[in-house]
Amino acid sequence: MNIRPARVGDVPAIYELIRTFAERRLMIRRSMGELYESIREFLVAIDDDGRVVGCVALHVFWEDLAELRCLAVDESLQGRGVGRWLVDACWESAQELQIGTVFTLTHAAGFFERCGYRQVEKSELPHKIWNECVRCPLFPNCQEIALVRTLDPERFSVNGTTESVVVGA
Ligand SMILES: CC(C)(COP(=O)(O)OP(=O)(O)OC[C@H]1O[C@@H](n2cnc3c(N)ncnc32)[C@H](O)[C@@H]1OP(=O)(O)O)[C@@H](O)C(=O)NCCC(=O)NCCS
Repeated sequence: MNIRPARVGDVPAIYELIRTFAERRLMIRRSMGELYESIREFLVAIDDDGRVVGCVALHVFWEDLAELRCLAVDESLQGRGVGRWLVDACWESAQELQIGTVFTLTHAAGFFERCGYRQVEKSELPHKIWNECVRCPLFPNCQEIALVRTLDPERFSVNGTTESVVVGA
C-alpha cells in the first residue's frame, strides 16, 4: 500500500469510489469534470496491484484554512488504517503549504475524532465555505458535522460552548 499525489489516470477510479458512497448520501457526488479540474488537490491510496483504493482532497480556502474533502476508502479495505493514513497525509500536505487549520464536514465524526480532529459549531466556519454547500440538495438541512484540526487551540471554541471566534474571511 502506498499514498501518492493523484494523476489524471486515477480520475475514473476516484469517481467510482466517491459515487458508491454518494449514492448512500455519505458524500457529495463529484462529476468527472470537477475531478479533473481539482486533480492536484487529491492524494490516492494505491494497493499492491496498483489499484486506487482510497482518496482524499485538500481544498485551500484562505491563507490559513483548508478543507479535507472527498475522503473514501474501498469498502473491502475499510478498518485497516487506510482512512487514517490518508487523513494524516492530508494534514502533512497542509503543513507543507503552511496551512495551520484543516476542517471537514462529515457524517463520520467518530472516525475524525480518532484522527485528532475535534467538533466545532458549523457557524464558526467562515461564510466563504458555504458557496459549495448551497449547491447541495440537502442544504440547509444537512446533518454533517464540522470538525477541525488546528495548530491554534484558541481559534475555535470547544464544541461551540465558549465564545465564538470568527475565522478566515
Ligand atoms: C470513514 C472512512 C474513510 C474510514 O476509513 P477506514 O480506513 O475504514 O478507517 P481506519 O481503519 O483508518 O480507522 C481509524 C480509526 O477510526 C475508527 N473508525 C473508522 N470508521 C469509523 C466510524 N465511522 N466511526 C467511528 N470510528 C471509526 C477505527 O475503528 C479506527 O480506530 P482506532 O483508532 O481504534 O484504530 C471509511 O469508512 C469510508 O470511506 N466511509 C465511506 C465514505 C465516508 O463516509 N467518508 C467520510 C467523509 S466524507
